[in-house]
Amino acid sequence: MDAAQIGSDTSRVTESLLSKEQYDSFRVFLEDSCGIVLGDNKHYLVTSRLNRLTQEFSFDSLNAMIDALKHKNDNRLKERIIDAMTTNETSWFRDNYPYELLRENLVPEVLKKKPARFRIWSAASSTGQEPYSISMILNEMQIKQPGMLNIPVEIVGTDISNTVLNIARRGEYDGLSLSRGISDERKKMFFKALDNDRWALNDKVKSNVRFSELNLLQNYALLGKFDLIFCRNVLIYFSSELKSDILTRMAKVLNPGGYLILGGSESPTGYCRDFEMTRFPKGVVYRLKEPE
Ligand SMILES: C[S@@+](CC[C@H](N)C(=O)[O-])C[C@H]1O[C@@H](n2cnc3c(N)ncnc32)[C@H](O)[C@@H]1O
Repeated sequence: MDAAQIGSDTSRVTESLLSKEQYDSFRVFLEDSCGIVLGDNKHYLVTSRLNRLTQEFSFDSLNAMIDALKHKNDNRLKERIIDAMTTNETSWFRDNYPYELLRENLVPEVLKKKPARFRIWSAASSTGQEPYSISMILNEMQIKQPGMLNIPVEIVGTDISNTVLNIARRGEYDGLSLSRGISDERKKMFFKALDNDRWALNDKVKSNVRFSELNLLQNYALLGKFDLIFCRNVLIYFSSELKSDILTRMAKVLNPGGYLILGGSESPTGYCRDFEMTRFPKGVVYRLKEPE
């Protein structure tokens, strides 16, 4: 790229910078609609993530698009903006230890109570790697100990973004995605090769997982009750008040003695008193406290 091109690119970005007023109103929109809190100095993040949408929706500038967001009730635009601002980063068996804990401690703990069914919620499931990794662990346990899970099992993946949910529902991934956490053994056991570097999950893994759209700011009552909730790497984006609210409402949809599994840097401490920290050899999870 020569100097003239650099100059013209810079002026395009400068043109589309947001005024302070527009930036502040965008922050309010984002926090009210999906809980994400933007710092004072994230102008560049907003501009770089939204500039492409400005062109796609044929607005003259980013300011004009933010204006339309305030004044027009365009749900497609809102959805696309939230999609662009959320981070969908995920991988198979992310951080490993939650899945080792699942196999070694959490499933045995839940089964001890002889439940009629076993339900797990993957809140903020992104493109499906988290709920499908859970399903693979349950499949492997069942193969090792046939009859161990002779009750109906349901894993529910939810996310605010329909774009990621559609990828999750399809259950097809490329080699790059598989290289982020899928061993050769699991590839052989749970995937079927399609054309062009694509791999489809088999029914053993897919059949007990279902996906539905859910904004964590909204009501969870329709989901029913769960034995385990995986809510990983999403609370970090929210305010303290929202963390408290979400954790308190999650406690209400956990069965007695159920467990909450959070991301490595997340904890309910200081936000919600309904959970007690439980240490297992492989890591920490949060158990719903007995009512006092
Ligand atoms: C970083 S990913 C985490 C995926 C997975 N839990 C993991 O740990 O690998 C965060 C996900 O949270 C979703 N998300 C963000 N705000 C949300 C909200 N208010 N309600 C539901 N999902 C939300 C995003 O769409 C994204 O897919």
